[in-house]
Amino acid sequence: MPAAKPGPDSTTAARDARRLSTLLEISQALSGTLNLKTALQRVLGTLIRQHSVVRGMITLLRDGELQVEAVEGFEDRARTIRIRLGEGITGKVVESGKPIVVPRISKEPTFLNLAPRRPDSARQELTFICVPITQNRQAVGALAVDLRFKPERDYDSSVKFFGVVSGMIAQALNVQRSVEEERRRLLDENTHLRQELRERYDFSNIIGTSGPTRQMYEQVAQVAQTNTTVLIRGESGTGKELIAHAIHYNSLRAKKPFVKVSCAALPDSLIESELFGYEKGAFTGANARKKGRFEMAEGGTLFLDEIGDINLNTQVKLLRVLQEREFERLGGTDTVKVNVRLIAATNKDMEKGIADGTFREDLYYRLNVFTIFVPPLRERKADLLLLADHFLEKFSREHGKVIKRISTPAIDMLMAYHWPGNVRELENALERGVLVCDGAVIHGHHLPPSLQTADSSGTVTRVSLKDAVAAYERDLIQDALKTTRGNRAKAARLLDTTERILNYKVRNYAIDVRRFKSPDMVRRAPGDALAPSDSRDQLRDAASGSAATSN
Ligand SMILES: Nc1ncnc2c1ncn2[C@@H]1O[C@H](COP(=O)(O)OP(=O)(O)OP(=O)(O)O)[C@@H](O)[C@H]1O
Ligand SMILES: [Mg+2]
Repeated sequence: MPAAKPGPDSTTAARDARRLSTLLEISQALSGTLNLKTALQRVLGTLIRQHSVVRGMITLLRDGELQVEAVEGFEDRARTIRIRLGEGITGKVVESGKPIVVPRISKEPTFLNLAPRRPDSARQELTFICVPITQNRQAVGALAVDLRFKPERDYDSSVKFFGVVSGMIAQALNVQRSVEEERRRLLDENTHLRQELRERYDFSNIIGTSGPTRQMYEQVAQVAQTNTTVLIRGESGTGKELIAHAIHYNSLRAKKPFVKVSCAALPDSLIESELFGYEKGAFTGANARKKGRFEMAEGGTLFLDEIGDINLNTQVKLLRVLQEREFERLGGTDTVKVNVRLIAATNKDMEKGIADGTFREDLYYRLNVFTIFVPPLRERKADLLLLADHFLEKFSREHGKVIKRISTPAIDMLMAYHWPGNVRELENALERGVLVCDGAVIHGHHLPPSLQTADSSGTVTRVSLKDAVAAYERDLIQDALKTTRGNRAKAARLLDTTERILNYKVRNYAIDVRRFKSPDMVRRAPGDALAPSDSRDQLRDAASGSAATSN
């Protein structure tokens, strides 16, 4: 069988194959990058390489005029041209949404050479094809190409082909716009969240007006704007983290990250990789490089919570970062430089740690540049009612309840308690109170059991041993006299002492024995009152300024 001569059918087949491979290449170019300009430039490059396209231009509608997104084969200044709608062929195509073909540019007297073509274009005959780029049935731009003139060219099929290319461009535009929208939404959300964080950690959210609290505000204000390392010390729940936040959000680094590391929560084996990150292959399971918290906090603040708990190895590394502001990732040799402000907090006795050899002295001195001591709540009772009101309002709002105030007996209970868990414990007590409260007032029985009696609260009154023993002795004698209805001989026997000693003590303590003889008085012995009224007044004075603490 003789070999078939390449006829019109086989040229069409070859052309279609070429077009298909071009479309594949174009789709890869468009999906390969999120940078639209680069992608469009590649599309034009492909058209020129694979087809008889001499030059091409992609324009998009922006602010009512067509702007050049990508050009290939034109002079450079073509990038800056602007085309009004209806102007030239491209302007007409976008205005009408319909493609235009100019088979021979030289024969078209109305052909407006908007884009500066290089002089060589005069030497060859060109065909011009311009197709709209359409989104939601609206032309949003145009793809325009100059092709070498070929008398046998099938213009319909060419327009269809470039129409497919422009459809792919429109698709990429869609993707890009939604990515852009998503990005803008995330940016907005981020700005909003940052604003919210700043408000939440604003000074005004640290409640308290007592002397120690005011001193703390002053210290925060003094140190916030500097880059000084800050060590915050205080018992658990006193508000150390709140203060660390306040320092960051009132510093010049407020717009940069605040990164927290809970040193006590991380096992020794993890803390270094968490702080300094690691290189790929540093240990089994390290499949890729990971940034540590120091790098994440770049430009911002790193908060090392419970620093008293870190092991000695990590302390050595930390010391170096503090001194030189640089470190290496685990399993790596590159030195990473960081610009990070350090805030550390602890509730541990660091001096004891040094004495025991569990905390390095040199690191302690590096950290102890500016120390803020947060006093325990029991030492600033003047803040207590302000805080209680603050939490009452906060939790009433959160749980949708209308609770107006705390009753006087409940206030007394709050005041008498020694708050080993500090503000956090108070916060929890008030949340519980709000939850179980069924009216408009928090009463004593709404508070946690630990506050219910002076005994269970472990309240220690500040009295001398002599006075305490005397008070106890007096109580015992009164009790015995109550039991024996004022019979001194029986009472002495009950207490395993002599009547002479008992009489002596009764006189000394000015106990009125006659009261125990009457049944009425037996029940109501002196000294049964809950608390001396003057001490209660003192507490009330200390806490004045709070609105919702009336009886
Ligand atoms: N002065 C204050 N004003 C308002 N809320 C406070 C104040 N102090 C503490 N709080 C609140 O008490 C709770 C405990 O505070 P924070 O977590 O800062 O304590 P901490 O000292 O870091 O405790 P720990 O040592 O246990 O980590 C938080 O909910 C915080 O908002
Ligand atoms: Mg804390």
